Amino acid sequence: MIKIKVKNSGVVKLQMFRDKDGDGDLFIAEATRNIPFKIKRVFFINNPKIKNSVRGNHAHKKYNQVIFCASGSFFLNLDDGRTKQRIFMDDPSIGIILGPKLWHTMTDLSENCNILVLADDFYRKDDYLRNYEEFLKYINKRKKHA
Ligand code: TYD
Repeated sequence: MIKIKVKNSGVVKLQMFRDKDGDGDLFIAEATRNIPFKIKRVFFINNPKIKNSVRGNHAHKKYNQVIFCASGSFFLNLDDGRTKQRIFMDDPSIGIILGPKLWHTMTDLSENCNILVLADDFYRKDDYLRNYEEFLKYINKRKKHA
């Protein structure tokens, strides 16, 4: 089992049904049951065309998300501004919670990789912190006023 060391994260485990005839595996995510919020948006990333592909590279101010590796593999690199953690993602039943103020980067996507993300809100450009210095300033500002 993955031990989460960074803040604003966690592990979600999906129920899996393996077809007895080898016809494939079925995974179930249910909002407010094993996913800790109501899902408003789903997006996925696949078909990487280069070897050293990098996705993410940002943090969110408010969003909660859960990220899965639906197929293939990738590395999920987490950074809460103090602690960093690198997780190898290759098990579709394991989701990692990407809470607010958690810098995340997905690297080394395998050719057949499919990154699935469930989010608790619609897309809003202004929820993104895309500059690492800006991210550090944002979390430190928040700490002082907390
Ligand atoms: P981007 O955030 O750069 O992808 P990632 O961080 O996963 O590497 O998103 C790429 C483009 O897609 C960017 O122009 C914003 C747009 N986008 C939406 O319009 N809606 C969405 O829900 C997401 C995730 C991205």
